[in-house]
Amino acid sequence: MSSDNQPSYFKRHIFFCLNERKNGEACCAQHNAQAAFDHCKNRVKELGLAGPGQVRVNKAGCLDRCAGGPVAVVYPEGVWYTYVDNADIEEIVDSHLKNGQVVERLVTPEHLGR
Ligand code: FES
Repeated sequence: MSSDNQPSYFKRHIFFCLNERKNGEACCAQHNAQAAFDHCKNRVKELGLAGPGQVRVNKAGCLDRCAGGPVAVVYPEGVWYTYVDNADIEEIVDSHLKNGQVVERLVTPEHLGR
């Protein structure tokens, strides 16, 4: 079988930008990105969603959409989120990571880039 036919190792993958800039420019670390990442990781574990065939939560450096920060992106759908608090993170986990339902209210506006 060619690799094209194999299911991906993780069903869904979420990357959190944790980038910190010391020069005062906007960055996701200013918005408690580390705490959000920790909260997401814990919730995914609690719900039994972590591991091969399921969900992986990863740290990332700058994802180049700083103006929409703090951002996280979910693959394979390629959906970008701008979150505010732990309730937002829980909604992303419960709705999108678990059930594949995009949380429209948290989607990063298209025009926001760097
Ligand atoms: S600093 Fe987070 S996307 Fe650039």
